[in-house]
Amino acid sequence: MQLENYNGLAALVTGASSGIGRELALRLAKEGARVALVARREAELETLASEIRSAGGEALVLPCDVAEADQVADVSRRALEAFGDIDILVNNAGYGGQSNFLDWDIEDMERMMRVNYFGTLYFTKALLPQMAARKKGWLVFISSVSGKIASPEKSAYAATKFAMTGLAEGLSLDLEVSGAGVHLLTVHPGVVRTPFFTDQMLEGMSEKTRSSMVEPEGLVDAIFGALAQGKRELTYPGGLSAGYIVKALAPNFLRKQVLRVTKK
Ligand SMILES: NC(=O)c1ccc[n+]([C@@H]2O[C@H](COP(=O)([O-])OP(=O)(O)OC[C@H]3O[C@@H](n4cnc5c(N)ncnc54)[C@H](OP(=O)(O)O)[C@@H]3O)[C@@H](O)[C@H]2O)c1
Repeated sequence: MQLENYNGLAALVTGASSGIGRELALRLAKEGARVALVARREAELETLASEIRSAGGEALVLPCDVAEADQVADVSRRALEAFGDIDILVNNAGYGGQSNFLDWDIEDMERMMRVNYFGTLYFTKALLPQMAARKKGWLVFISSVSGKIASPEKSAYAATKFAMTGLAEGLSLDLEVSGAGVHLLTVHPGVVRTPFFTDQMLEGMSEKTRSSMVEPEGLVDAIFGALAQGKRELTYPGGLSAGYIVKALAPNFLRKQVLRVTKK
């Protein structure tokens, strides 16, 4: 289902206070959508809302920890009260980390799953029914290339993104079978320059990985392009998707490539 005209549509973006989510929210507002902004840091959301309003757009600030089901339910209700419907849900809130599995704190591993995966699940459960009832809606899942191919010191993060990718793949089929009139786009970004990367993560990054870093604006352009074409999957930069084919056909070769590319 192609999406080209955003005028009059309402969107909710999680993780809108920074990086990719912030850029996506700005672009949605620029294209004419009303935008509900979700994240924990209210001050950052207010700054973004002011930017959107001063450009003539409409924004709603909804502070929320996406890992908390009751907060997600409350914020979804408030977004629906304010906008009537939500036509576009962008599940983007998330964080990463880098550690050998043995050193990774189990509480952080569990928390990461709650934020990256369960946050997505809670918002989708809360907002999909009104889309299906109207037979109109778009879900955008910001997964990761790490949701298709794992790499060293990313086990906990890759697990959250594989979970998100699996949910998206199954849900997309359910939507088609049930004729829900709702489209799902799963996005697999590579390495994008945002505050996602802590100094420690940047230090641990190989030169090869660092040099492949892209800007969030390019990713956002590609997401809007994919929605306009009715695509169901987007990997950005596109060349990375060659890895999926290599993984399927020659998994040991891909494994060696992953170890080579990520070696410091
Ligand atoms: N940057 C990359 O290279 C890259 C690559 C592939 C995938 N991704 C994915 O893209 C998404 C956005 O990442 P980014 O690069 O834009 O990172 P970022 O700049 O650090 O932004 C992360 C956003 O998620 C929000 N967030 C984190 N925990 C939250 C929670 N518990 N409740 C609500 N919001 C929460 C943060 O807001 P608050 O702190 O205000 O809550 C922030 O707005 C993530 O899902 C990430 O896994 C990023």
